[in-house]
Amino acid sequence: MSVKDCKHISIPKISDPDGRGNLSVLEKDILPYEIKRVYYLYDVPSGSTRGGHAHKELQQFLIALSGSFDVVLDDGKERRVVSLNRPDEGLLIPTGIWRELENFSSGAVCLSLVSDVYKESDYIREYADFKSFIGA
Ligand code: TYD
Repeated sequence: MSVKDCKHISIPKISDPDGRGNLSVLEKDILPYEIKRVYYLYDVPSGSTRGGHAHKELQQFLIALSGSFDVVLDDGKERRVVSLNRPDEGLLIPTGIWRELENFSSGAVCLSLVSDVYKESDYIREYADFKSFIGA
């Protein structure tokens, strides 16, 4: 996989005709996998970094439900930084991409919709192991 395979996906937005705000909805065909688990990051202290790993199989879709943060993507050859700051778009991260989440704004909430249940055995937590994995 390449960082170019990490895609921004727009999430349909329904704006209330009477000015009562917006509603965004994700239906089953928007992602290339069935969502098996949902979790969210919040109360991330300023200056903290999350992520710092890749997955062997798991695919992930991230949404900045509130606030903003940057996702640093790395396929072992190229790095790309994607800023997320809107609740009506998300970032699809396919399998085998190293990711770090940084520059969390105050009050940021990162929603994560993933393709599998939690399995520590699916994580690659050392960058050197990631390089071996993608070289394999
Ligand atoms: P991790 O995925 O490393 O967090 P991040 O990538 O956001 O920095 O998970 C942090 C800790 O939480 C780690 O000890 C595993 C645990 N964890 C669970 O127990 N269940 C889960 O669904 C997730 C995502 C993490």
